[in-house]
Amino acid sequence: MAEAFNDITLSGDKETRYREVAAEIASVLEGERNVTARMATVASMLANSFEHYFWTGFYVVDPDKPDELVVGPYQGTLGCLRIAFGKGVCGTAAATCQTQLVADVHAFPGHIACDSRSQSEIVVPVTGPSGDLIAVFDVDSDRPAAFDEVDRRWLETILTETFAR
Ligand code: SME
Repeated sequence: MAEAFNDITLSGDKETRYREVAAEIASVLEGERNVTARMATVASMLANSFEHYFWTGFYVVDPDKPDELVVGPYQGTLGCLRIAFGKGVCGTAAATCQTQLVADVHAFPGHIACDSRSQSEIVVPVTGPSGDLIAVFDVDSDRPAAFDEVDRRWLETILTETFAR
């Protein structure tokens, strides 16, 4: 029997660790099309793989209010429930469809502080198979400048593989 993901010893190198987790996510989700199940699995597996992740989760485009994000599956302390497009880091990622890599959240105009311990964050837009924006994926860290181009590249890859195919 395969070793349970929660018992796997992850590699020290961030690049290698992302590669391993990406493969595990694809393997766990094989055959599962439910979007909530996919989001919950991605949030859990990534949050439990990296020490620099503090809050990890999805803000989903509200089908009833298409210019508003509503909180989806996440791991971490209580997140705010709704974010308008254009507001804060998540709303900017949703409005521009561009990944936001923020080294210092206090320097980001309009940053929404759900937890005052957050120091830096990355927010990646998530598109579905039709190419429409379905959510953003938000990772906050309690460390300053915790995310770099390795995080960006792997998160964009994992989210495309998981939700756009
Ligand atoms: N950091 C986000 C708000 C959401 S939480 O921190 C969970 C933002 O400014 O968009």
